[in-house]
Parts: sequence; structure tokens; C-alpha cells
Amino acid sequence: MSENFEKTGNIKTGDTEVIRGLEGVVAAETDISYVDGVNGDLYDKGYNIHDLAGVCTYMEVAYLLLHGDLPTKAEGRTFRQQTINEMRLPSQVVKMMEIMPPHSHPMDVLRTVVSSLSNFDPECDDNSPASNKRKAIRLIAQIPTIVAHLYRIRRRESILSPDPHINMAANILYMINGKMPAEDHIRAMDQLLLLHADHGMNASTFAARVTASTHADMHAAVTSAIGTLKGPLHGGANERVMKMLKEINNVDEVEEYIDSMLAQGLRVMGFGHRVYKKEDPRARHLRKSSEMLFKDTSADKNFFSISHRIEDIVLAKKGIYPNVDFYSATVQHALGIPEEFYTTIFAASRISGWTAHILEQYANNRLIRPTS
Ligand code: SDX
Repeated sequence: MSENFEKTGNIKTGDTEVIRGLEGVVAAETDISYVDGVNGDLYDKGYNIHDLAGVCTYMEVAYLLLHGDLPTKAEGRTFRQQTINEMRLPSQVVKMMEIMPPHSHPMDVLRTVVSSLSNFDPECDDNSPASNKRKAIRLIAQIPTIVAHLYRIRRRESILSPDPHINMAANILYMINGKMPAEDHIRAMDQLLLLHADHGMNASTFAARVTASTHADMHAAVTSAIGTLKGPLHGGANERVMKMLKEINNVDEVEEYIDSMLAQGLRVMGFGHRVYKKEDPRARHLRKSSEMLFKDTSADKNFFSISHRIEDIVLAKKGIYPNVDFYSATVQHALGIPEEFYTTIFAASRISGWTAHILEQYANNRLIRPTS
């Protein structure tokens, strides 16, 4: 089935109804995040995302998701030290990344590498809460490292260790580009990570919880989540947004381009959402970031203006709004991230939400096994 055509509608046989895609089915109770689709709001541990974005750092929100409260200054320093210390990979795993086929998709490499990390983690089969908390912090630290190392291995540049004096967002950009990023780029990356950290019972989080519900280990559950996030209907949409933007030469071409997509029944990537019936609250912040990053752009085609025009046209013709992936594409482009890495950056943040949900599943578990 092409990624664009989806049959919708439930199937009723007798008094049994199949809820396709589990739409609207409440699969679990969670206090990690809440997506209010009717009002277009998102809450991370009760904090409205609008009160976190631009105020907190991504790592403060990752701490919030894992520990249930925003860190004090001291707790934040300890957490940052812990993650910096864990932002390294076993040399065998780096060697494995070096021999991966050069054109394999970064999400496939990420999925493979996270799975292989379990073989080098002495606590892999220890499912105790203390061990799982340590593994969660290790994975929150290692996934950004995998992404940055892969980027440089692909360009035959030496891999870089994190700088202990800068935060996670700055380190990702530094370990990718090999130079200290500008302040506005650090702020934009930090906000991008914060906005992607968690989002209720999305497909990849659900996949992680299903895996954890069998008492499989955390690496197995995160591997399931990465495989699920890659899909273009989920985290893979951001890469396709940039592909679409590159096919449109200027704002005047937008309406015809979108009309042709809609006429073929195609989905416009970066738009629509299973839960939000209003604008995705994260889009507001990413739109602002994208506009700021493109305001002085002369060299580059102004992807922000084209995006903004697409947004107006799709809203007018289909009444649907941009989701987190739409403006994430132009923000990442402006930060110098190649599009094939966009979803790995999504994963570099969502790992904090996934691990929080995996811990929550283990703590109050029942095997997830629906009927058919
Ligand atoms: C993420 O779940 C999460 O929270 C995910 C996420 C997170 O943080 O974890 O928010 C991240 O994955 C965001 C979504 C990224 N995906 C895309 O941008 C891909 C494009 N979007 C669509 O495929 C779609 O909107 C989904 C998959 C996101 C939601 O699909 P649904 O709920 O199954 O809705 P649907 O496909 O049944 O569409 C309902 C109607 C249809 O109209 P009809 O054909 O019935 O007349 O809305 C239309 C669709 O045609 N529609 C779109 C559209 N999305 C919905 N039409 C054109 N383009 C679109 N993008």
C-alpha cells in the first residue's frame, strides 16, 4: 500500500466492531504527557508546552519526563554530567557504523546500532527499576551521539567527543559540524528537541510499550520504537516535507503543486493529525523558529515563505493544520542538518519520552495483547 493511500472506516461483524488504527481507543493511563486534541494543547507532566518552550531547556524537560518534576539547579547539573559522561559508544559499535553501506538510511543505522548496544551493555537483561533508569539515561545520551557520529563517518570526518561545558543541543550541533554553534542555532535546536520529547500514545511510543509489556529489555523496546518512528505517516514525514519544498521553486507555484497532490488523493506531508482537530501547539513555536532562521536568508531559496504559503493553501482547501513535522523540516535545514537525518534528530529527542513510557509500563504492567 502506498504511503499516501489509507482505507479508513471500522468493520462491524455482529456485535463485534474492529476499531481500525485503534482510533480513539484508550490503551493505557499515563501521567507523562497529555495531548488535548479538541483544544490543541499538549501537556508534559502537567506543564503546558507553551510554558515550557522558550523557557526551559530540552534536558530540563527530559529530566521532567523521567523524574516527574523540573530539576533544581543542582539536579540539572548532575543530570547533565550524567548524560555527558554517557555520550560515548563502545569502539566496536563505532567500527560497525563505519562498515555500514554508505547509502543506508540513517534511521536504519540508528535502529541497528541501538539494537547492537544491548550486546555491550552489562545491564542489558537487568530489568530492575534502578538498572532501567540507568539504561534510560544511557540511551538519552547515546542516541544523539550515534546521529552525530554517523553524520561525520559519512563525510569521512573524525568523530568528536562531547564538550562538557555546553548543553545537549549545543553538543549535537558541535559534534555534527565540528565548531561551536551560534547562540540562535543552539536555541532553535534546543527548542526543536524540547518540542519533540513526548507526545502521548503515538505509534512509536505504543510500539515501545507493547514490547516492554512482554518484559523484553529496554533496548528491545527502543528498537521497536525507532523502527516505528521511521514511517512517513509518523516521524518520517519531516524528511518528505523538505523533499516537497525542494520540488517547489517559489511561492507562486505552491497552489498548483498542492492542487495536483490533492487531486491525486495524496497526503501533504507535515499536515493533519490523528488527535489534533486544531493546530498542533508545537507548530506555533517551530513556525516562529523557522521564520527567525530564514529572515536573513538571501542565498538559500526562502523555504519559510514557501512553507507559509503551503500552510495557507492546505488550510483553505482541506481545513487541516501543520503538525510538528512541517516546520521542523525548515528549522533543521537552517541548522545544516541533511534531510535524511531529520527523523534521527526526532528520535534523539523522543528517546526521553520513550524511556519514560517504558519505565511507566514496567512499573504497572499487563501484557498488551488485543484480540482480532
Ligand atoms: C507525527 O500521533 C502522534 O502524536 C504523532 C506525532 C508525535 O509527536 O509523535 O505527532 C508525530 O507523526 C505527526 C504526523 C506526521 N505525518 C504526516 O505528516 C503524514 C501526513 N499526514 C497524514 O497521513 C495524516 O494526517 C495522519 C497519518 C497524520 C493522521 O491520519 P488519520 O488520523 O488516519 O487521518 P486520515 O488519513 O484518515 O485523514 C482524515 C481526512 C481524510 O479526508 P477524506 O479522504 O476522508 O476526505 O483528512 C484528510 C484525508 O484525506 N487528510 C489529509 C491529510 N491528513 C488527513 N489530506 C491531505 N493531506 C494530509 N496530510
